[in-house]
Amino acid sequence: MRGLLRWGGHYRVGIGEMDRDHEALIELLNRLDEQFRNGENAEALQATLRRLVTEAQTHFRMEERLMKRLAYPRKDAHKAQHDFLIGHVAEFQREFEAGKAELTESVMTYLRDWLRDHLLVSDKQLGRFLEPLLRR
Ligand SMILES: [Fe+2]
Ligand SMILES: [Fe+2]
Repeated sequence: MRGLLRWGGHYRVGIGEMDRDHEALIELLNRLDEQFRNGENAEALQATLRRLVTEAQTHFRMEERLMKRLAYPRKDAHKAQHDFLIGHVAEFQREFEAGKAELTESVMTYLRDWLRDHLLVSDKQLGRFLEPLLRR
C-alpha cells in the first residue's frame, strides 16, 4: 500500500462521534499496514483486521441510526456501501483465517482506497446534511 491515510482536517465531517470513529479506523488501518510491512505473522494481522472489522461495523451502525433518525435522503445508498465493504472484508477474513487467502499489497490498497473514498465522498455528504440539524 503506497501512502498511508493521514487523519487531518480534510477528513473532518463536523460530527464529533463520526470524526472520532474515522480517526480510529484510519489508525487501525495504518497499524495493519505497518504490521504487514514488518512481516508480522498471520495471527497478529488477523487480530488487527478483526478489530478493524468490528469497529467498522459498530461505526456503520451508528451512522445508519443517525441517517434513519434524521431521515437522510441517501440513506439506502449509503448503507449499501457499508454492506458492500463489510461483505467483502468479512469474506476475505474468513478465507484468511482458514489459511486460504493471504493479506497482500492489493488487499491493503483496496481497504485504503475504499475507506478514503467513502470518508471523503459519502461521509462528507452525510456530514453536510447532518451538521446543521445536529447543531440546533
Ligand atoms: Fe463513516
Ligand atoms: Fe459511512
